[in-house]
Amino acid sequence: MHEVHGTDRPPVRQPARPSRSRLGRACLLLATASFAVVAGHALTHAQAPAAPAERTVWDGVYTDAQADRATGVFGQRCATCHTLDATGARPLSGAKFWEGYTQLSVVDFIDYVRTAMPNGNGNSLPEATYNDLVALIFRANGLPSGSTELSPAAATNVQIVPKDGPGLLPGGSLVRVVGCLVRNGTEWVVSNVPPLVRVRRGGSDPADVTRPLGDQAYALRFVITRLDRYEGHRVSVNGLLIGDGGSGGINLSGLTSLAPTCP
Ligand code: HEC
Repeated sequence: MHEVHGTDRPPVRQPARPSRSRLGRACLLLATASFAVVAGHALTHAQAPAAPAERTVWDGVYTDAQADRATGVFGQRCATCHTLDATGARPLSGAKFWEGYTQLSVVDFIDYVRTAMPNGNGNSLPEATYNDLVALIFRANGLPSGSTELSPAAATNVQIVPKDGPGLLPGGSLVRVVGCLVRNGTEWVVSNVPPLVRVRRGGSDPADVTRPLGDQAYALRFVITRLDRYEGHRVSVNGLLIGDGGSGGINLSGLTSLAPTCP
């Protein structure tokens, strides 16, 4: 496995929740980081492909008791900065929630709240309390409760998707893209891409080695390192979508070669 990323400076920091306003900053960081090509070790144990996401947040993935339990701690530890409504300062429901988290996995969302909140004091509450707080946020967003308590283990393969379907990922979303690296004139393109995977952190997934490919293509932008040796490879790419759905391409932040041939 070969990876392309900055080595002698801290890696490009991926915003926890990329937004359009951060795109500029991310580009700047990328442009100033010095890049190097690093030979990693070969992937010897390719895991079986992850089971496709079968469930969504509309399938009753938390209990009402959990959401009730979180009400007190929300008032004490979160309400100074957030509202559970769709309006006010830092609302945790409505358009902002959906734009920020559509198509992210519930596991990633719980992980974000646990490690980042209360702001600057991540991991300061018991783990179960974080699960309960996410249940409360889900309820505030009109998601149905069910009979199983929410936890990272119970939420494996549960995706956050709006009721009317996934739609286009908002511009600025951090994604992981698997596909074939091809050259199109002076431009690098990842072709044969299956549906984009929204992620919270960079990095590749061993399951991408065998993941079925698709028919989308995305141009890579802000490529400041030579990719010639990866031409024709099966690659995993991290970057921020430029434009909704990546209509303007992908602002490249990292590339991993998964196999020397593709598809
Ligand atoms: C001191 C203020 C503060 C407190 C207290 C706080 N947050 Fe936050 N929260 C923020 C800020 C600022 C952001 C945006 C961080 C970013 O974008 O990097 C944020 C972001 C979030 C987000 C992502 C949605 C968004 O608006 O970006 C969630 C979910 C969240 N907080 C949940 C919580 C929960 C649950 C608690 C209580 C345990 C909590 N926060 C306590 C300031 C706070």
